[in-house]
Amino acid sequence: MTAAAEARPILTVQGLNAHIAGQQVVENVSFTVPATGITALLGRNGVGKTSTIKAIIGLIDRTGAVALDGVRIEKEPTFKIIRSGVGYVPEDREVFSKLTVAENLRLAERDAAPRRQLVEELFPDLLARSAQMAGTLSGGQQQMVSLARALLNTNKILLVDEPTKGLAPKIVAEVAETLAEAAKTVPILLVEQNLLVVRQLAAGAVVLSGGRVVHTGNALEFLDDAELTQRLLGVSAETPAGTHTEKTAAKPAGKGATL
Ligand SMILES: Nc1ncnc2c1ncn2[C@@H]1O[C@H](COP(=O)(O)OP(=O)(O)OP(=O)(O)O)[C@@H](O)[C@H]1O
Ligand SMILES: [Mg+2]
Repeated sequence: MTAAAEARPILTVQGLNAHIAGQQVVENVSFTVPATGITALLGRNGVGKTSTIKAIIGLIDRTGAVALDGVRIEKEPTFKIIRSGVGYVPEDREVFSKLTVAENLRLAERDAAPRRQLVEELFPDLLARSAQMAGTLSGGQQQMVSLARALLNTNKILLVDEPTKGLAPKIVAEVAETLAEAAKTVPILLVEQNLLVVRQLAAGAVVLSGGRVVHTGNALEFLDDAELTQRLLGVSAETPAGTHTEKTAAKPAGKGATL
């Protein structure tokens, strides 16, 4: 890749607006995601993080401009946007619980040559559980299935929504490590409430409040600014658990959570 291509953002969002049930949930949102590494999309509960991601891929009606690798996509239907190289890992994982791990993965294969080897290397425990019904996996294991589904295809960007939500700390660390590995092959826009994970993974940060972008910049600089994180996230990044919502409270991941 040339220096010029590296400098060009992989995703550009310009003046994005979206409404849900008559309420404007995304308001004139503009930001860019670089072509390498992890960019965090941050903000308190209900500020429009998930809605922004859904608006980018057309899952909710929106206006504004979205460019993927320099090509405008906002007029395209969702399936075309996904096919053009956007991997989406939704909040709450959404695996097919009554299908096996192997079936979940096979259903996600979009490319002529899915990257099965990469997925097997990244998720050895899933390989061992390929015949297990996905609904019987622990939360962390289901998250791995969800990430594996996106990584099977060669994407230009992954949009990953709260992958560590509700997971026990040990499993959070493993998901974070997997994301770091994945980011070596594909840029990631990551919605994440655990600020320790953000600190570990993210180069850049985009912060939303009330559906609007209220801060963009270097992730570590943002996290190191206690006054700013307190004001925009309602928490200081120095908080040991790094969490600031009741939703992110750890819950047991269940027996056999060894991923
Ligand atoms: N289906 C829906 N019907 C009505 N309102 C909705 C719906 N989905 C989202 N909203 C509202 O839109 C706003 C933005 O929600 P969104 O899910 O994008 O926030 P978020 O930042 O992802 O929150 P969280 O951190 O809790 O996941 C919230 O006020 C929410 O209540
Ligand atoms: Mg959300």
